[in-house]
Amino acid sequence: MLVFATSDKGGTGRSVTSCNIAYRMAIQGRDTCYLDFDFGSPTAGAIFSIPSAMRGVARGGLHSYLAGSNQVVSMDVWRETDRATVKGRPDGAGRLVLFPGDIGGSEFAPDAETIQRCARLLLRMDEEFSLVLIDLSAGRSHALDTVLAATALPRLKKVTCRWLVFHRQVTFFSRGKAVAARTAGTTAMSCRAASGSCGPPSSTRTPTTSPACGPNRSSGCATATSPCKTWPAS
Ligand SMILES: Nc1ncnc2c1ncn2[C@@H]1O[C@H](COP(=O)(O)OP(=O)(O)OP(=O)(O)O)[C@@H](O)[C@H]1O
Ligand SMILES: [Mg+2]
Repeated sequence: MLVFATSDKGGTGRSVTSCNIAYRMAIQGRDTCYLDFDFGSPTAGAIFSIPSAMRGVARGGLHSYLAGSNQVVSMDVWRETDRATVKGRPDGAGRLVLFPGDIGGSEFAPDAETIQRCARLLLRMDEEFSLVLIDLSAGRSHALDTVLAATALPRLKKVTCRWLVFHRQVTFFSRGKAVAARTAGTTAMSCRAASGSCGPPSSTRTPTTSPACGPNRSSGCATATSPCKTWPAS
């Protein structure tokens, strides 16, 4: 399964939450990988506390792979982290692999070749891992456009894709007064399009915590929506 993490704005908790989901899934025995597609700010190495990839890698990151390089660096988080509570693969845990971004990488508009390379990467990752988390740049970025185009290709039709859409703040108003505010919320969408015709959030709310990586706080919430019935649109 491919899970894409995106948001309208930066700083909504995509990377910290995605690292924690990846960690939790791996602990539960699933082979999991994390693709750092936040090309302008690849922070997963810092969140997993991997000294050689704190701001991405000098060569072989995903940015340069999409731009044409054949070298792709992968890192075994269990081995490479210097975080004592994460180091060492626990009994029964699955693989936890980071594919970092590049130091100094940046957003670039995809062409047909970029989209094909992205599709090849996603297909291969989906075959090798039971969960693939892809942390995208914020907003309507080139990274987002690239994966939307890649996942729309016929050869990815059978691959299950899910979206986690992060919101910085949602404030509810009643008669002009703010009655509730939610920060760092997450909407889980069962459709491939990051925006569009999914229904409103249901009332199911599950607290998200950060036991392994990032701040040890639990202010976020995950809100599940019904599966999108109208996708694929024409
Ligand atoms: N659940 C949470 N509770 C409180 N703070 C959080 C939570 N998740 C993330 N943060 C904090 O919010 C900030 C942004 O988190 P993070 O880097 O994961 O966001 P992002 O959406 O990936 O940002 P960017 O757009 O810069 O890539 C960080 O300082 C992080 O420590
Ligand atoms: Mg981030």
